Amino acid sequence: MVDSSIDLKESYEILNKYPPEKRFTLAILQDVQKQYGFVPRETMNLIAEYLRLPVSEIYSMATFYKALSLKAKGKYIIKVCNGTACHIRGSNALMDEVAEVLDIIPGETTSDGLFSIEIVNCLGACALAPVMVIDDKYYGGMTKEKVKSVIEEYRRAK
Ligand code: FES
Repeated sequence: MVDSSIDLKESYEILNKYPPEKRFTLAILQDVQKQYGFVPRETMNLIAEYLRLPVSEIYSMATFYKALSLKAKGKYIIKVCNGTACHIRGSNALMDEVAEVLDIIPGETTSDGLFSIEIVNCLGACALAPVMVIDDKYYGGMTKEKVKSVIEEYRRAK
């Protein structure tokens, strides 16, 4: 499990930017997501207190919007494209290999907090299919065989 202890100072700073009104809930949550990369439980409690709303209401909103995440993401986000071109060229096998090497499934984060994996739609680089992206770096013509060594590079760089 990723350590979710966070510095709440930033949470207070975000809340201070908004009047304590319900209509700002989503804007606050978006700022929190941007700040931490996810919406920490402790911050949801603070928002609820500040807006005088039940925590359950903040939680429902945080789970409803896809752009918001309740879990901390890894230091490196590995995206495997499953758009048509990549699918035809074997993105499923690629995804399986990434999942096996990291021992997690898409949407999860490794226990050391280093990697998260996501399946995404076309990344706009179909000529390079199948494509995998780590942070902003594109890996085109990816094969199952290359997965391990690419991931190792990032492990070494941590
Ligand atoms: S389908 Fe994968 S980059 Fe377009």
